[in-house]
Amino acid sequence: MTLQTTANIWHNGKLIPWDQAKIHVMSHVVHYGSSVFEGIRCYTQPNGAGVFRLPEHMARLIDSAKIYRMPLPYTADQLSAAVIDVIEANGVTPCYIRPIAFRGYGEMGVNPLKSPVEIYIANFPWGKYVHGNEGADVCISSWARLAPNTMPTLAKAGANYMNSQLIRMEAEINGYSEGIGLDTNGYLSEGSGENLFLVRGGVLYTTPLANSVLNGITRNSILTLAKQLGIEVVEQALLREMIYICDEAFFTGTAAEVTHLRSVDRILIGDGSMGPITKALHDEFFGIVNGTRPDRHNWLTPVKVKVAEPVGV
Ligand SMILES: Cc1ncc(COP(=O)(O)O)c(C=O)c1O
Repeated sequence: MTLQTTANIWHNGKLIPWDQAKIHVMSHVVHYGSSVFEGIRCYTQPNGAGVFRLPEHMARLIDSAKIYRMPLPYTADQLSAAVIDVIEANGVTPCYIRPIAFRGYGEMGVNPLKSPVEIYIANFPWGKYVHGNEGADVCISSWARLAPNTMPTLAKAGANYMNSQLIRMEAEINGYSEGIGLDTNGYLSEGSGENLFLVRGGVLYTTPLANSVLNGITRNSILTLAKQLGIEVVEQALLREMIYICDEAFFTGTAAEVTHLRSVDRILIGDGSMGPITKALHDEFFGIVNGTRPDRHNWLTPVKVKVAEPVGV
């Protein structure tokens, strides 16, 4: 999807014009993938706009940086304020927000510790991420997700997305909307940029963090909503074949939101339509973010946006 630009990007504490947010080709990150980042959505509600689970995203950014020994000279609260500043300055909502911290121009060599940490926050309009209005047709990837103790999956690091790229490219080239990676033991893990949920016999299943998944904030939100709706939830390692015989399946993610899966490897899931448990969770999620249902968990941080622009889908 072509990137739609906005006026400003936040860089190390101040707003700079979009076109000036540039880095040197010899920056450490370009060569060794040394970045950590976040993806956040800001939604519009009837009375304004709000960023979804901003403190949780900033906490995860700080965790990702800590794993990679990358000192961030800002607190979670300061970074949250910076997100609000850039959205308000650009006046674009709904939007997607991309904070990124990386090792910049300093020394050559794998060790990043002598290269400075740079932080940027951009926001821009971004519509539907996983295609398929009637449900997504996905595949099991031939690529496995990251093995434990290789690339840490609790860090949302740029380098992890080389694996995601392999999964996504293979899926799209083979005519699917997205691929699901297995972990290195062959258990279901997650999509290239989404957590995975299955429903069978009225029970909601999702893969635990130990199956090489990102600790998704939408995943956590869905688990919270499921408990609130009285849906039984089980987090356990899931065999590959469970996805072929389940009644319902869906992805969660900031970009993917709640996307129901119609088929996996051309095997229809249920009758292919969005099942009742997926629908209940989908409707509750979108009700909260779109402001038609109460934000009973205080998940939205308000922003004052001067100009509202629709997201191009
Ligand atoms: C690999 C991966 N898994 C899961 C997710 C979903 O996480 P979240 O709901 O926090 O966006 C993402 C998106 O950030 C992702 O990139």
